[in-house]
Amino acid sequence: MTRIILPVTIVSLCFATLAVAHTGVKNPTVLARMEAMKETQESTKVLGAMAKGERSFDADTARAAAAEIARLAGQTPALFEVQETDPNSEALPVIWDRFDDFTEKSLALEAVADALAASIETEEQLRAGLGRIGAACKACHEVYRK
Ligand code: HEC
Repeated sequence: MTRIILPVTIVSLCFATLAVAHTGVKNPTVLARMEAMKETQESTKVLGAMAKGERSFDADTARAAAAEIARLAGQTPALFEVQETDPNSEALPVIWDRFDDFTEKSLALEAVADALAASIETEEQLRAGLGRIGAACKACHEVYRK
């Protein structure tokens, strides 16, 4: 059971603070990066729903969702490159003090998601992969997001 519950728990933690924070955001740079994160979350939810059995497992759909997560993770450094803020932003200023590490964490998610996009064939692989994706989200959020 733990093998099933653990990834789902990690991903739920990822979603915990998502309370539609971008409502009222005026800065277009901030809005763009928030929208990209929102899309990342939508694809992660597709995987989460399959892992929980809320949606039937389909390897092609799972791979496409993983590919989308990889695509967005690859864009993350460029989306955050310019230091911009907004009263509703949850981004911590330390991102721009440690941009190399921030970039590495984006690319780490991209690599995990890319590997899954090329390999998911079973539900078991999906669940294990989702755990790795959730861990990569968390590794960044716990340092760089409020
Ligand atoms: C390299 C760092 C990094 C990675 C990896 C990352 N995030 Fe984020 N995420 C952020 C930062 C920083 C913010 C805050 C952006 C802001 O408010 O300006 C954020 C915000 C969000 C938000 C809130 C968006 C909104 O509408 O305000 C969601 C949802 C989110 N991330 C989901 C995810 C998921 C799911 C993953 C993994 C699949 C992920 N993130 C991976 C850094 C990251």
